[in-house]
Amino acid sequence: MRGFDTKFLDELKSKSDITEVIGRYVHLEQRGPNYWGRCPFHHEKTASFCVNGIDQFYYCFGCHKGGDVIKFIEEIESLDFFDAVKLLAEKAKMEIPSITYEDDRIKEQKSKKETVLSILKETARFYANNLRNGDSDAHKEYIAHRGLSDEILNKFGVGASLDYESLPNYLKTKGYSYDDMVLSGAVSVSSKGRYFDALAGRLIIPVIDQFNNVVAFCGRIITERKDVGKYVNTRETLVFSKGKTLFNLNNLKKHKNEVGLKDIIIVEGHMDVISLVQAGFNNVVASMGTALTKDQARIIKRFANSVYISYDGDFAGQKASIRGLEILKDEGLEVKVVSLPDGFDPDDVIKKQGKDAYEKLLSEAKLLIDFKLDILKRTFDIGTVDGKRKFIKESLRVIASSESASEKEDLLKAVRDMTGITYESLKRELSDFENGVVRTEAPIIETITGDRLSQAEKYVLHGYLFNKSYVKDVDIKSIEFPTATGKFLQQYVVKENGNLIKPNLVFDCADESMHDDIKEIFKIELAENKGLDEERFFKDCVNSLKTETIDKKIDNLTKLYKSATDIDERKAIASELKELMIAKNGLN
Ligand code: UTP
Ligand code: MN
Repeated sequence: MRGFDTKFLDELKSKSDITEVIGRYVHLEQRGPNYWGRCPFHHEKTASFCVNGIDQFYYCFGCHKGGDVIKFIEEIESLDFFDAVKLLAEKAKMEIPSITYEDDRIKEQKSKKETVLSILKETARFYANNLRNGDSDAHKEYIAHRGLSDEILNKFGVGASLDYESLPNYLKTKGYSYDDMVLSGAVSVSSKGRYFDALAGRLIIPVIDQFNNVVAFCGRIITERKDVGKYVNTRETLVFSKGKTLFNLNNLKKHKNEVGLKDIIIVEGHMDVISLVQAGFNNVVASMGTALTKDQARIIKRFANSVYISYDGDFAGQKASIRGLEILKDEGLEVKVVSLPDGFDPDDVIKKQGKDAYEKLLSEAKLLIDFKLDILKRTFDIGTVDGKRKFIKESLRVIASSESASEKEDLLKAVRDMTGITYESLKRELSDFENGVVRTEAPIIETITGDRLSQAEKYVLHGYLFNKSYVKDVDIKSIEFPTATGKFLQQYVVKENGNLIKPNLVFDCADESMHDDIKEIFKIELAENKGLDEERFFKDCVNSLKTETIDKKIDNLTKLYKSATDIDERKAIASELKELMIAKNGLN
């Protein structure tokens, strides 16, 4: 019986009425003998999710998921069977009996999990004691510099790692094996077989789950340096998966039970959470240094129906974050976006402008859809005819995604005010768009199979080598070619400066390793065979190359932004990122 005895499970199920449990996650309406709602496991507009209270099961006619109340909790909370039972038992105020295992594999895994959890708890104690009683002046100095009170340090169980060896040595004295230490993620092993503290030297913030287990640690460097990551998390283990974990969930749950919870503030950094909690905002969580996942969104939905996204100033404009926000919306959460000053994160706002200033920013937060329009406005140059046209097209795409007629109306008016195009004509365009009258032409390059980028590079070079009429509009020097062959041919074309290019002379100058590629480029036959619009195709390919170059820069700058600690530096990077987004949106 998967570990628990039948009597216990029967009692648990009878105390966990399925309509009541599911009703906490899904708005249900009674129709006939059953309850109906919108399925929490897939996005739908009409209710095809059915809960049968008599036989205590659920079933979705859309996605075909179904089962009993335990199965539902497993699915919705991304928990395994045991933890789902634990969660239900906690709610039903039932003691969990000691488990009798029939399956040895499960038994072994379960007991490994318990060992790992006890190692992590012991490790957390060790770190906290280091901070209090160890040789931790540097850590204390850093804490003082961040303005963290003793009370907040205790609340979060903050600790210090002082060196490489003392953690494994300490755990050894507690009777743990090196293998288990490594399994816990707290200890790593070098190629020479030496065991060491995986977060050596860092300030340690424990990550605690909703059952109050320490499941991982987050370590921050205490002296600024660029050669190592500012933050490092414990690697993924039996008990820790980044994408299913939210930082501060334990305190959030406690807060909800004690005083209730209206909404949740989602921030990027662990330090932002700690700083906001210190300032009195208890309803805060952070993801673990990655974009939000569906699992995290579901967990959030269990605690509240409405969220504030409070990411770094101007950083939320990044595509990745927007995707994260969509995930929240898809879970049925009301999403509002808090706009912070450029280069500021929530911690900076609290430190430099105070609690009230942050409160004010919260009250001015924008609904996701308004925020999206804002981003578009900032990343298109609507001062130009072309920029305005693209801005309108993208805006209509955003507006079409709204499910409310009155919201659409408001948004159209907003676009009217920004562009000076009449409301009527925007409305017409929107309905054309929604009815599929305007089919946005996919770039032809989408039809290329294989390595798109290297194909694009070849087609573009082909155009220049044969001096086609359509290459005149694009300066070859404005393109960054990804391969060595591409860069070589670019130089060659520039040097020839419009002269007819003779293949045999090109081969004479080129390195032997490039010959095959060059041959291929000379041999490309475009339009004759494929019936393509050669000129449009050429431009698509150029745009792909340019987009790639910009994307790479955006990636690098984003990394730089993450590693920057100075506000001015961040501000500068943010403004550069903005420029790049505008440049990117200017392509196509
Ligand atoms: P931030 O760089 O925005 O964190 O990264 P922060 O809280 O402002 O950092 P401080 O104020 O300088 O201490 C946000 C989150 O991204 C992850 C961490 O989880 C961090 O909390 N991160 C950041 C990393 O994983 N590695 C890094 O090098 C930087
Ligand atoms: Mn910060």
